[in-house]
Amino acid sequence: MPGLQGNPGRVRPSRGARHPRHSGAAPPFPALDCFTAPDSHTFAFKGLISCNWLQALEVGIDPAHASFLHRFFEDGDAAEAYGKQFRATSDGSDLPMTYVLREYARPRIEVENTEYGLRVTALRTINEATTHVRVTNLVFPQAFVIPMSAEMTITQWHMPVDDTHTYWVAIFTSFARPVDRAQMRAQRLESYSLPDYLPKLGRHNDYGFDPDEQATETYTGMGEDINVHDQWAVESQGAIQDRTRENLASSDKAIAANRRLLLRAMAAMEEGRAPALMQDAEATPRIIGPATIDTMAPTAEWESRWREAVSRRRGAAPWAPPALAAE
Ligand SMILES: [Fe+2]
Repeated sequence: MPGLQGNPGRVRPSRGARHPRHSGAAPPFPALDCFTAPDSHTFAFKGLISCNWLQALEVGIDPAHASFLHRFFEDGDAAEAYGKQFRATSDGSDLPMTYVLREYARPRIEVENTEYGLRVTALRTINEATTHVRVTNLVFPQAFVIPMSAEMTITQWHMPVDDTHTYWVAIFTSFARPVDRAQMRAQRLESYSLPDYLPKLGRHNDYGFDPDEQATETYTGMGEDINVHDQWAVESQGAIQDRTRENLASSDKAIAANRRLLLRAMAAMEEGRAPALMQDAEATPRIIGPATIDTMAPTAEWESRWREAVSRRRGAAPWAPPALAAE
């Protein structure tokens, strides 16, 4: 594949700084839902992206981009949404996600610092009475946890192969039915080739761009697989984005917050202190969840209603995920 010489596993690895306290020992493991759920309720897949890991991550903490990059001019059939991001309906609503994203393109974004990183909440005012609430998370430094559908979340890491190649590694976690792994795998193998999980669409074939499709069906003209859209968005910035030439805007609030976390962590490393959010053996097991939801809520009560929706879903899950603290 152009842009990748040989086996990605043989590319020179990045030289990361060694953690001052955990050198030689594996760091403690947080009890995220994707690690707590049984095998029957999870499914894992990965894919290569030809760019630096940080820009590959940052598309996942920008809640506004989905209204444009993943815009579909017509709503699909909800019955065919299984296993696909943004194709189902929100919790407590008949409105397809494609409709909500397309028609309400300017979310209000709230960012909170948490024990694991950031909680990023996107609020779309549907009308005076109703607000669409989408709660996503950054697990610092390189993962996000986001809702995929009413029953499933995606926890996705961005693992550097070297400075200019990254594997996204995702665990899909169901809070309801067991995951149909065969279907999930077959869907993804339409877009990725084994054994190296290389994307079939990329710079080498213009990401499948079709101007007729762009005129009539999708914003990008690059097909319906949102991973292709995201891959184009992050690779087209250049293998390592030149951040001296960017202008962060209000919709980049979470990205700016993440940069602050990174700068603080790097300063701590340089001073020989444990970086912020690098948890110790006692604190790490307290990191559970985190909460994700995509729901419609009464505008006046959105803050309590999304938490209730999360509790309801967790309470009904057959594998008894731990209750989350109501903060
Ligand atoms: Fe995206």
